[in-house]
Amino acid sequence: MEETSTSKKMILDVNEKPSIAKWIILAFQHVFAMFGATILVPILVNTQAKAEVLTIPVALVTAGIGTLIYILCTRGKSPVFLGSSFAFIAPIALGYSKGGLGGAMTGVMIVGLIYIIVSFIIRLIGKNWLDKVLPPVVIGPMIMIIGLGLASSAVGQIGISSDAKSIEWKGVAVALITFLTTAFVMVKGKGFIKIIPFLVGIVVGYVASICFGLVDFTAVKEAAWFSLPSFKIPFVSYNPNWLVALTIAPVALVTMAEHIGDHTALGTIIGKDLLKKPGLENTLLGDGLATLVAGLLGGPANTTYGENTSVVGMTKVASIWVIGLAAIFAIILGFLGKFTAIVSSIPNPVLGGVSLLLYGFIAVNGLKVLIENKMDFGKNKNIIVASSMLVLGLGGAALTIGTKDVSLTFSGMSLAAIVGIVLNLLLPNEKEEVKKDDDKLRQEKQEIINEETKRDGGDFKKMDNVIELNHPLIEHKLGIMRCKKTGTKEFRELANEIGTFLCYKAMEDIELDDVEIETPICKMKTKKLNEDKYAFVPILRAGMGILDGVISVIPNAKIGHIGMYRDDKNNHKPVNYFFKVPKNIEEKEVFILDPMLATGGSAIDAIELLKDKGVKKIKFLCIIAAPEGLKRVTQKHPDVKIYCAHIDEKLNEDAYIVPGLGDAGDRIYGTK
Ligand code: PRP
Ligand code: URA
Repeated sequence: MEETSTSKKMILDVNEKPSIAKWIILAFQHVFAMFGATILVPILVNTQAKAEVLTIPVALVTAGIGTLIYILCTRGKSPVFLGSSFAFIAPIALGYSKGGLGGAMTGVMIVGLIYIIVSFIIRLIGKNWLDKVLPPVVIGPMIMIIGLGLASSAVGQIGISSDAKSIEWKGVAVALITFLTTAFVMVKGKGFIKIIPFLVGIVVGYVASICFGLVDFTAVKEAAWFSLPSFKIPFVSYNPNWLVALTIAPVALVTMAEHIGDHTALGTIIGKDLLKKPGLENTLLGDGLATLVAGLLGGPANTTYGENTSVVGMTKVASIWVIGLAAIFAIILGFLGKFTAIVSSIPNPVLGGVSLLLYGFIAVNGLKVLIENKMDFGKNKNIIVASSMLVLGLGGAALTIGTKDVSLTFSGMSLAAIVGIVLNLLLPNEKEEVKKDDDKLRQEKQEIINEETKRDGGDFKKMDNVIELNHPLIEHKLGIMRCKKTGTKEFRELANEIGTFLCYKAMEDIELDDVEIETPICKMKTKKLNEDKYAFVPILRAGMGILDGVISVIPNAKIGHIGMYRDDKNNHKPVNYFFKVPKNIEEKEVFILDPMLATGGSAIDAIELLKDKGVKKIKFLCIIAAPEGLKRVTQKHPDVKIYCAHIDEKLNEDAYIVPGLGDAGDRIYGTK
């Protein structure tokens, strides 16, 4: 998967723990935000199967247990709440109609097992094959189909679908009140209220429903305060039916795409590549184990939630603590008979009012995957893949293969996924043809990119977190460094000199300690730098070329090393070969050193490695930066200030900076 970029800063980041009161309220909001979908899956499955296959309490408990399993498997690095997926509504009902509870539940277990197997394959041979099978052009439309496929469900809940015999105006009014309240809180809310829009929307909508007389409390009165959810256990409640379960198995493909898509979308929102860390092998394992356990207890299959992405995106709360507590609440709530009865009494229009926002957000996330991956819809291959998926996925297509007794039905989403994957693998790559056949077109394209880059580049001069040294002497020294005739000795000396200047600039905002000293004349209060608070981390090799200059400013700062080289034969992506940093690095402000910031790949990975070690304050010091790289780094790590001597014009086709100074490492060490 491509590296994603962050678009928003989180109010609470993944490992941040809120104060107790906020923690409880945020967890409630999270669990409530998942409610619409979690409780709807059992309702819709039962409606479709015309029997009680699933129950709301079991769905809540298995969602909670599943989320905790997922958090353990991903070591608390991915803020995902697992819940019952819409992708399973039709398959579970189908499994039930063909093989009773055994068919439905064994199917859920099989899907979990497939995830687990795939997670181990990824562990063994990597995930490159998955990138090929499920690229962004397939995942983007998949997420859109999931979101848009739910659109009619939201409209139906509101009661304004075109096939409604009559419109229940009270219901529409309640949906509108819920929707407007949620939207208003999102746009105009202040402080904490702003991050609980769904909770506020649902409560206001529910109160409005009571006022309109739309809530039936009979079931609430009759319900016990505590009741054991009706778990369905294999060999106790039913006998597993593996053959029928196979009809559900293909859904694993769809939900795996949903899994990747949700993690990609969530990663985009929180500014972390979750498929890299904690890694797809761990997220899939968590999801698979959760689904297996859900199947064993009689719950719907667990899956990563589009709604979760929506809530994190809208509230900007990505705290794993909040999600963990939400999971515990879900489990507890599943045992509260009165509560589940109240939840069941929330009228559909309230859920519809909230879903109007949530489901659209899922679809928009699909669009975002395409945009963030710069999907080129000028290419016919991409048009064919995406458009056929959208039409099949949203058009209600279904294809049954097999005999009368044993058959597999691929419908809507599964069919779209299979068609998209196959088309993408089979259709020839146009890029190759362009390369061979139309050099001129390529050149024109490059010129357009260069123009765009120049435009974007201009913006960096105004950005707070990119600081360019504007000094005639630096300009002069840089000119000497750029000149290809300049030898190794002079190049190295100038690199260090500029390094010193960069360090002064980067330390403009530091805080000094108050100390008292005695001059030859008198005592005085002055300021002192606590050198222990700082560390320098050069990226090998070229970063070492400015270390001497920088360390001359703070001689007692600790030094770490990150070894990285760009894989220039393939994709210019950085390959990390060494990482050693001082003890307690997380307590220090760290300055990463590298003379060149080109595509930004090395900078992004180096920053990530340090953040993983718990480092909170990072600055990046470089001599020359390219606009393309600055754009990527600032989007991915908006909290990191970049200090550079000069922002150059662009990158060339080999990802070298133009005009640049060539390969900094080679010039410092004279290796070419
Ligand atoms: C150079 C440079 C950066 C990186 C920048 O190192 O010193 O580390 O390339 O490129 P990027 O922004 O596109 O990631 P290189 O990989 O050539 O290794 P070296 O320092 O050993 O020469
Ligand atoms: N690395 C370098 O050393 N120079 C460039 O121009 C790009 C990457």
